[in-house]
Amino acid sequence: MAIERLVEPTLELDNTEEEKIETSLRPLTFSEYIGQTHLKNNLKLAIDAVKKRGKGAVLDHVLLYGPPGLGKTTMAGVIAHELGSSLRVTSGPAIERAGDLASILTNLKEGDVLFIDEIHRLRRAVEEILYSAMEDYKLDIVIGKGPAARSMRLDLPKITVIGATTRTGALAGPLRDRFGIVHRLEYYKEPEIEQIIARTSKILGTEIKPEALALLAGRSRLTPRIANRLFRRVRDYADVNGDGIVDTVVAEKALDLMEIDALGLDPADRNMLRLMWENYGDRPVGLTTIAALTGDEASTIEDFYEPYLLQMGLIARTPKGRVITEKGRKVVTG
Ligand code: ADE
Repeated sequence: MAIERLVEPTLELDNTEEEKIETSLRPLTFSEYIGQTHLKNNLKLAIDAVKKRGKGAVLDHVLLYGPPGLGKTTMAGVIAHELGSSLRVTSGPAIERAGDLASILTNLKEGDVLFIDEIHRLRRAVEEILYSAMEDYKLDIVIGKGPAARSMRLDLPKITVIGATTRTGALAGPLRDRFGIVHRLEYYKEPEIEQIIARTSKILGTEIKPEALALLAGRSRLTPRIANRLFRRVRDYADVNGDGIVDTVVAEKALDLMEIDALGLDPADRNMLRLMWENYGDRPVGLTTIAALTGDEASTIEDFYEPYLLQMGLIARTPKGRVITEKGRKVVTG
């Protein structure tokens, strides 16, 4: 059984408390958005060009990829805001039938932004509708069945599609080709994570000491969503057990309670590293074998555990599978 993880980088979308808080913390403009400088500069230029061209000009479709929790949805919101457009948010798995997408598309206005999270999980029939909507701003529909069936092309408003995916490899070639702007979101640098936590603490009205800020940033897996989540848990701890101010003592205690170590690893990460070391030593091991050992789906390992462990140099990818590195071994053997 997979373990419920505090450092889970995905966001439960269902009007949860976390979603509401995260929404309230989201920056709306490029100047408020911390980090991802390269991506911001490219997008700013593209948006300025659209604005300069004026009426009828729309932003190219944008594909954002990279590990979860790095701000793809947030960036989509910033893009829409900077364009002065409305944003409609949906996701690959949420669009069940071609008709669902057709109804979303026909309800958009010229210049609107449609954000499709987990776009690699769109069904084939839905993807086909999206192709012509993105390429020609047309909706191809079939009316009737059998020999009497007729196809029709309807005009759609000119819109910008922003797709988000954890892996571009999982995206069908023809779909990927329809995005004019393709960018990878990178892990944040620790000082950027510190700035993000400082911003959050200000919005939530909690004082945090600079040393505590650095401590939290170091354990946040270089991921804003996790940083904000850890901050909120540490703040709870400070409210219950202290005077509400987050200092290093409070932060240490709260992080210990959450079993998050100095590298930001949680019990599930350490368990995976231990299983790799105990069963395979320094030999490579395949993804499906790791998944069988931990009891997770291979895709969960690949999308959620692995990116950070790779980034931190705790495991490495080889043609024969994943190997635990010297640094990873130290986590297991102490
Ligand atoms: N909150 C979450 N991600 C953020 C970012 N990149 N900049 C500012 N605030 C954020």
